[in-house]
Amino acid sequence: MTIDPRLSADAPASPLPENGLFLTDVWAGLGAARKTLPAKYFYDAAGSALFEQITVLPEYYPTRTELRILDERGPEIAAHLPEGAALVEFGSGSTVKLRRLLRHLPGLSAYVPVDVSAEFLHEQAEVLRADFPDLPIEPVAADFTRPFALPPRLSGRPLAGFFPGSTIGNFEPAEAARLLDGFGRILGEGATLIVGVDLVKDRDVLEAAYDDAAGVTAAFNLNLLHRINRELHGDIDLDSFHHRAVFNEAESRIEMHLVSRVAQTIHVAGRAFAFAEGESIHTENSCKYTIASFRALATRAGWSVLEAWTDADGLFSVHALRRS
Ligand code: TRP
Repeated sequence: MTIDPRLSADAPASPLPENGLFLTDVWAGLGAARKTLPAKYFYDAAGSALFEQITVLPEYYPTRTELRILDERGPEIAAHLPEGAALVEFGSGSTVKLRRLLRHLPGLSAYVPVDVSAEFLHEQAEVLRADFPDLPIEPVAADFTRPFALPPRLSGRPLAGFFPGSTIGNFEPAEAARLLDGFGRILGEGATLIVGVDLVKDRDVLEAAYDDAAGVTAAFNLNLLHRINRELHGDIDLDSFHHRAVFNEAESRIEMHLVSRVAQTIHVAGRAFAFAEGESIHTENSCKYTIASFRALATRAGWSVLEAWTDADGLFSVHALRRS
């Protein structure tokens, strides 16, 4: 089934060394009995641009709904942050949501964006400094799924965390609990955490949000295969796969798949992977919670519940938690 590249006569040149981990992950994912690819590889330049487009699609309700909650409930959310707190954002990205919250947080003593992409992080920090010259900004380049240290300058300050976008939903519940507990270890006892969580709702609404009529989410998912072709000498015919988003009710999650339209064999850096017709690569999960089920998860992870806010249609929720 799989061919060792060293044995293959027409093996292409080996991939660039910096792509070593990407290749290892792709080989492992495609070689598994149930094929997967890690979602973290969605976000190259093209993928990040497509993701920005997803957030303004008519079907994709989470971003605009969360922004509205942050706008309308800003003062109530802010009331849970101690005066003089430093706010740590896990996976800060473009800071659009942070800006909504900032106007309600005049007493903030520092903003600490944490992002794995150092270049983007420092760019965004500069932009924010220009707009908020009085707010000390202390960027930390780190992978928030692992332990990392906060800048020593913040020691002794009350801390709060911000984790919007229902990114928590992209982790399976056990991992999500580990992540929330990890945030608690980083922020320490007494810290507040503000987290955005997408809610369970009708299948049709959920599936449309992840399979829009314009095909942007499909392009986002398929970009992963494009990236494999470009960076790892893949020979995947993109037209031979299609995007599928399905609500798995038993697991309470949207699953995204890339489904092979035909029986075929693809190659990545000289290794072959066979697909049956209809066989899929599972690329992403987006877990959906009720207010109660998320509170149970947070409680298991060492947080106590302060308050939660939703929009009038009950589409999305924002939670305030306290590290206990
Ligand atoms: N966390 C958001 C969500 O699950 C954003 C997101 C992550 C997303 N991966 C995605 C949206 C893939 C669309 C497709 O909705």
